[in-house]
Order: sequence, then C-alpha cells, then structure tokens
Amino acid sequence: MKIAVAGTGYVGLVAGVCFAEMGHQVVCVDIDEKKVEVMKSGVSPIYEEGLQDLMRKNYAAGRIDYTTDYASAYKDADAVFLGVGTPELPDGSADLSYIATAARQVAENVEKDSLVVVKSTVPVGTNDKVDQFIQDFLVHDVHVEVASNPEFLAQGSAVYDTLHAERVIIGTETAWAEDRLKAIYEPFNLPIVSVNRRSAEMIKYASNDFLALKISYMNDIANLCELVGADIQDVAEGMSYDERIGSKFLNAGIGFGGSCFPKDTKALDYLADQNGYELQTVKAAIGVNTKQKTALFRKASNRLITFSGLKVAVLGLTFKPGTDDLREAPSLDNVPLLLSKGADIYAYDPVGADNFAKLYPEGPNDRGSITYVNDVEEALKDANVCFIFTEWGEVKAIQPEQFNELMRTPLVFDGRNIHPIEEMENSGVEYHSIGRKTVKSQLRSGVSQ
Ligand code: UDX
Repeated sequence: MKIAVAGTGYVGLVAGVCFAEMGHQVVCVDIDEKKVEVMKSGVSPIYEEGLQDLMRKNYAAGRIDYTTDYASAYKDADAVFLGVGTPELPDGSADLSYIATAARQVAENVEKDSLVVVKSTVPVGTNDKVDQFIQDFLVHDVHVEVASNPEFLAQGSAVYDTLHAERVIIGTETAWAEDRLKAIYEPFNLPIVSVNRRSAEMIKYASNDFLALKISYMNDIANLCELVGADIQDVAEGMSYDERIGSKFLNAGIGFGGSCFPKDTKALDYLADQNGYELQTVKAAIGVNTKQKTALFRKASNRLITFSGLKVAVLGLTFKPGTDDLREAPSLDNVPLLLSKGADIYAYDPVGADNFAKLYPEGPNDRGSITYVNDVEEALKDANVCFIFTEWGEVKAIQPEQFNELMRTPLVFDGRNIHPIEEMENSGVEYHSIGRKTVKSQLRSGVSQ
C-alpha cells in the first residue's frame, strides 16, 4: 500500500520506517527541509537503536522517501498516518494545532479514497473532530475516514517495540476503515485489538497513566520503606512473583520523565477536569512524581552543610538510558538546584551532554559552574559528591572501589538504585539510594560532615 506519514519525530519516523520494512511504499513528510535532507542522506535525526540501519536499507530499496512536499505525498496515498507532536500547553491540555494543520493539508490535497490514521496521543474525542474537520475541508470528491491507532513504543527500543508490539490497537467507526487498517498491519503478524475510536484513544492514556501510577506507587512505598527500615528492592521482588502485579515497572527511583508519562498524566487529569470529574489516582501520581524528582537532592542537602566549593559528579542527564532525550529528565530539576547551592558540577552522559549543554552551557552558572566530561572516571576524579541520575551501562559498571579510589570523598547519591547494598557495605563509600538503607562509612576529610 502507499502510505504517507506526517511528522518525523519518534512516532512518525519509526512507524514510517517499519511500514517500509514490511513492504509498504512510504513517504515521510516534514516541514523542516534540513531534516529531510539529513534523512535522505541516511542519517537518523534521533538516536534510536537500529533505526538508521533500517532507514538506509529501505531507502536503498526504494521503499521509503522523505519530503517537504506534502501535497504530492498525500495526493495518492491509501493511508496517511499523523505522527506529529501534541505538546503540553501551560494548562496541561494537549496542543492539537499540528494535528489540525496536517489534517487540513490532507483534506485539501487527497485525490483518492484514503484513511487518515491518528498515531499521535490525542485526547478522547479528537478523532471525531479530526474527521469532521477533514470532511469540512475536503476538496476532491473522495471518501476519507479517520481511524485511531495509538503508539506504544518506548524510546530506546522504538523499532523493536513497533515490529514486535504486544498489541496493535485500532479504533475505527466503519468496516471499511477497520479492513484497511488491518490490511496495513497484516504483514506485521501481531495481535490486533479492534475497538471504536474513543476507546482506542482512551486505551493509550489509560495504559500510560497506569504505568505512571505503578512507578509512583513504588516511589511512594520506597519513601515509606526508608522510614520503617524496609528495602524497596526486596519488597518489589516479593511483589513481582504475583502474576497479577507482574515484575515490570516496579523500580523505585528518581521519578519518571520522558515525553509520555508526564504529559499524558496531565492531559488525562485535564480531560477529567473538563468533564467535571476528579481523577484522584492520576492526580496523586503527578504529585508523587513532582516530589520524587528532588528527593535525592533533599537527602543530599540534609547530609551536607553546603555544595559551595564542592566538586559534584553528575552521572547521566537523559530521562533514561538509550536515548539522548532530556524531556522531563530529573537532571533538569536537580542541576539548577545544585547550581543555586554553589556546586561545581562535572557532568557525564554518553549521548545527552550536547543537548544539555544547549540549556546549561559549560562555565559558571548561578552560584556554581558546570563542566562536561567524556567519561565516568573524569567526572569522579577528586569529586566530593556523586549523583546518579540515569542508569547508563557505563554508570552501572562502576565498581564500589572505583568511587573510593577516584573520589576525594566517596559520598554517593544514587537515584536509580544501581548498586546492591551488600556490595557497598565495607567499600568505604557512603551510599544513599531510594527506599533502601543508607550505607555509612567513615569518609576521608574534604566534605563538611
Ligand atoms: C513510555 C511507555 O513505556 C510507552 O509505552 C509509551 O508509548 C511512551 O511512554 P518511554 O517514555 O520512552 O515510554 O520510557 P519508559 O521506559 O516507559 O520510561 C519512562 C520513565 O519511567 C523513565 O523516566 C524511567 O526511568 C521511569 N521508570 C520506568 C521508573 O522510574 N521505574 C520503572 O520501573 C520503569
């Protein structure tokens, strides 16, 4: 089938490439000419495992192309997937202007019967509005319908998640739309759940917000574990054997970030408000997460008199490993706090440092300073304090004795519970983490105690 994809962010580009991989003829549309040139040259604009290889393979095979010329892309497409952004507005609602623009461009240019498929996460009821909007602006005498097909990929494993999705949700209002969307997904050979459009839209929010709740619940329990002398990792393990609970998403830490959970919890809360309903569970998850992001900083502030004049190693800046994305990353909450308290930060991140440096350029900042370094050792060398914000492989690989050898005072605040408590005991490192006991050690001088 001939497929056009609007938007070449995580959702659009990964979908486009995977459709091409499955044998469809794909054209990806983006307004950014430079980005289109970069993609044509075989370079992925985002860091995502396996994506660039598939882009090159399918471009060489003539199955995928990139363009800014939306009119010709939409003209004869059997389906147009909308994967444009739906960023959060200041009131927590989703900005639908990119969806509206793309929908109108389709309506004005499509010259054959076509299915418009909304892949972006949109509030319940949006597909109905997009459908009406398209009928209003349709120029040619063709049949166009709208279907919902929410995306469940996680960054860092986007291609794998798309090709091996646990389920494909399709939300349609007619058999014609359902059949066409099923035909597109047929070569993927994945379980398909076919529902109406509003249910499909809700499945996306309900799934993401459930996961956000699950993490926040564990963070809440972790904070209580600290107070009563329990260990959150042992608690999680004990819970995980219950198949009704499952073993995934039980990791307590420094709060969830990324482009989905923070945005989608606020959007569903907003939708409930708009409908006169108080969504207490999701509101609680939002509240717990906001507080959790600075839990480690508060711990460190209670432990130290000041950060002024201290070399502070920051390991990991991105919201999770495997991506260069900084959206809603806990580092964005903690770095300014540390700078305001006079910390001299030495930050390491294997792929996120360049993006972070755009927000916090190297040099003096507030009452402290920030320097970007190329490896973990450089960050830890002579440091007084170390914060772990992202569980990158090279951060997980640090041995307790390395903290001890490299740091001036091995005082570690681990926001990802990377190190087993037993390993840290007798290592000479003072080790604080989330929901577990603090490992105390007699530190060398160099930090006010
Ligand atoms: C998420 C969903 O997983 C995906 O299905 C949806 O389509 C988009 O949102 P993503 O944001 O890419 O994907 O990453 P994910 O791996 O889910 O992690 C989100 C955040 O939760 C990260 O900040 C991560 O560190 C945090 N997290 C995850 C925890 O704190 N604990 C956990 O147990 C799992």
